[in-house]
Amino acid sequence: MVRSRRTTSGHRGELRETPDSACHGLVDTVTGEGPGGRRSGREDGVAILAVRDLTVRFGGIVALDAVSFEVAAGQIVGLIGPNGAGKTTLFNCLSRLYTPERGTLAFEGRSIQDAPPHRIPALGISRTFQNLALFPSLTVLQNIMVGVHCQSRGDFVSSAFRLPAVRSEEARIRAEAWALVTVFELEGVADQRAAGLPFGTLKRVEFARALAGRPRLLLLDEPAAGLNHEEVAALARLIREIRDERDVTILLVEHHMGLVMEVSDRVVVLDFGRKIAEGSPAEIQQHPDVIRAYLGVAPGETALR
Ligand SMILES: Nc1ncnc2c1ncn2[C@@H]1O[C@H](COP(=O)(O)OP(=O)(O)OP(=O)(O)O)[C@@H](O)[C@H]1O
Ligand SMILES: [Mg+2]
Repeated sequence: MVRSRRTTSGHRGELRETPDSACHGLVDTVTGEGPGGRRSGREDGVAILAVRDLTVRFGGIVALDAVSFEVAAGQIVGLIGPNGAGKTTLFNCLSRLYTPERGTLAFEGRSIQDAPPHRIPALGISRTFQNLALFPSLTVLQNIMVGVHCQSRGDFVSSAFRLPAVRSEEARIRAEAWALVTVFELEGVADQRAAGLPFGTLKRVEFARALAGRPRLLLLDEPAAGLNHEEVAALARLIREIRDERDVTILLVEHHMGLVMEVSDRVVVLDFGRKIAEGSPAEIQQHPDVIRAYLGVAPGETALR
């Protein structure tokens, strides 16, 4: 079946539209150093995630077509591609919401394919959702506390009788969640219900909640959606800080090319379910297949009309 591209969000062309931000903070491909001389990422790190030959079909649509790549521990890897390329489908496979028709997924050297979805956070993989998955009637703080709770070890009997150990565990969860409220500058809305808050604020709440589970691999699905220019710049700083200070490997799905090119050590590009390119941000920005996928035409080619 021939798939046509959804065009509603107009992401095509963003490679060209953000040249300033896209070029800012690029990794020097010769020295491997990022902004300020910091060694960017850990290119010699072992693979924390290995995706092999991943294939997912929905009826006649091949959402992922034999996709393979690795993510080295400690890196920020951008996963980009036009609408419908298969990015969220790949996240859904990693969170075990979808079962691939073919291929393997290994986290820290072990297959995660037999793990049920609810076990994935406990294994060390957290994610955010493109369209949010918060509890609307809980406050911002409570939503983040849910994330902390996922890695706490309370048992049912102790919880039911609110034994002292449970009360101190609750205090710890609240304190840990509040620390994330301050990191994400959510103090002003911490006691407000999630329902009705702006989309950009809720994206930050989701990010905080995913981090609350102390993951070793964090999957971010369009964290910049709904953010203004200043907020995207702050998000870029935050993503790097989190990687550096919390020892988290990050797989970043994002249409904001300036953000992807600024923070990523490597970039993997999907188009119509296939991996079409992989490399440093500088390599990806000049890759003819990537430019063709986004703009419909590569440099030197004539557009068909
Ligand atoms: N549950 C599903 N049932 C049927 N088709 C699906 C399902 N999930 C995804 N698809 C299809 O698979 C393809 C890949 O979708 P996916 O959501 O992974 O793309 P994406 O790269 O995340 O796109 P976007 O940038 O728009 O979020 C699309 O053609 C989509 O319509
Ligand atoms: Mg998506």
